[in-house]
Amino acid sequence: MKRYHVTTFGCQMNQHDSERMKGMLESLGYAEAGAPAEADLILFNTCSIREKADERFVAHLEQAKGLKRADPQRIIGVGGCWAQSVKEDVFRRFPYVDVAFGPGQVHKLAEFLTSDSLTAQGFFEFGGFTGHLPAKRARDLQGWVQISVGCNMNCSYCIVPSTRGREVSRPLVELVAEVERMAADGVREVTLLGQNVNAYGRDLRPQRTSFAELLGALDGISGLDRVRYTSPHPKDMREDVVLAHVQLPTVCEHVHLPLQAGSSRILKAMRRTYTRERYLDRVALIREHVPDAALTTDVIVGFPGESEEDFVQTLGVCEEVGFDGAFTFIYSPRRGTEAATFTEGLVPHEVAVERMERLVEVVQRRARQRAQRFVGRELEVLVEGPSRTDPARLRGRTRHNKVVNFDGVAAPGDLVGVTIVAATSQTLTGEMSLVAAAAAR
Ligand code: SAH
Ligand code: SF4
Ligand code: F3S
Repeated sequence: MKRYHVTTFGCQMNQHDSERMKGMLESLGYAEAGAPAEADLILFNTCSIREKADERFVAHLEQAKGLKRADPQRIIGVGGCWAQSVKEDVFRRFPYVDVAFGPGQVHKLAEFLTSDSLTAQGFFEFGGFTGHLPAKRARDLQGWVQISVGCNMNCSYCIVPSTRGREVSRPLVELVAEVERMAADGVREVTLLGQNVNAYGRDLRPQRTSFAELLGALDGISGLDRVRYTSPHPKDMREDVVLAHVQLPTVCEHVHLPLQAGSSRILKAMRRTYTRERYLDRVALIREHVPDAALTTDVIVGFPGESEEDFVQTLGVCEEVGFDGAFTFIYSPRRGTEAATFTEGLVPHEVAVERMERLVEVVQRRARQRAQRFVGRELEVLVEGPSRTDPARLRGRTRHNKVVNFDGVAAPGDLVGVTIVAATSQTLTGEMSLVAAAAAR
């Protein structure tokens, strides 16, 4: 039997694409190998969001080159956003690569593997949802659902629109059927994936569908306890979506709302299409209806033209909102993007690093403070397994998407009540309530 190995870089969408790649390969009769050295087919599912992502992948590819030299029968494949962004250039730069394909062409990998072709091939059309391929889920209880591909936004720093194409939504009935199948298979929690999930459905014909309608349609699925989604765009965060968090029991009390910058001037240069005020207004809307909701975000520091005053405004928003967590990034110029052509007000790396440190201080302090609201409360926790830090304890996740390490006896998949006794910026610690434990059985 032939064996494959997939190394995945990048976001949850890429992780999910890899599940589909694996499912497809297994339907072709391949089995998963524990390491690249044991595989006949070595695949990389790549990311290009920042320069570091590129560098990391190239180092891995160098290792694969050695393995290919040892056994020239081996096939090396490169998929994902980096492959899409360099296209045929991949074969010039890395002549030992046999097949390359973009995120919309994963299905072509099967065609390549079942053909007799000995020449390297690249597939870079947009089109085709990986969501249509069989999946090999990485996790038993939690599943990803690709609700749309591509992005119609034009953020000036971002490579994604060029690697994933225009936005295309999958029909609602198809998504409901997919989630029904997952729930029947034991999945308790799904995360809906898209570059801009709340723009979902506007392109659907004959009938447009809204993201809130999709949430409503998934809510009734038997056996499904929780629905999450990532990422919504602040410009499309409307009241119907916020109200879904209140009205639909499955929709979790967590919103990841990417801020990127707290200065309206920088937001404009980023082409984010909202201002600082509009962002804060969205936060107020969420807090009005779902006061306890966890809010997380993404922030970029060191964007071209970002002055000290602009940066202080970003700090101000983080201070004011008090996010439950944030992913923070130093701006990285990406090939083909508008911002990569900016020449004025470039922020020296040391300045960006210094700003990053100040940002992280605010983010962590506020997250720690925010987390204290959970202490003393009993929260619903979906048990995932043993704690990573102490296997004698259990690990699970709250509806707010906080990891909880706790004492108790429960099986993965149980929903239990855990009383929180301590909280850091990242994790909660607690004890399982006995009453809730009995009810879970
Ligand atoms: N579609 C999603 C996520 C895009 S990528 C959204 O719009 O929220 C995830 C995050 O990477 C972005 O939110 C942004 O904060 C960061 N990012 C994207 N391009 C970047 C770049 N060129 N440099 C640094 N960070 C970047
Ligand atoms: Fe990139 Fe902006 Fe689209 Fe997100 S919304 S994927 S940041 S272009
Ligand atoms: Fe994701 Fe990286 Fe592509 S973040 S969409 S895999 S560039």
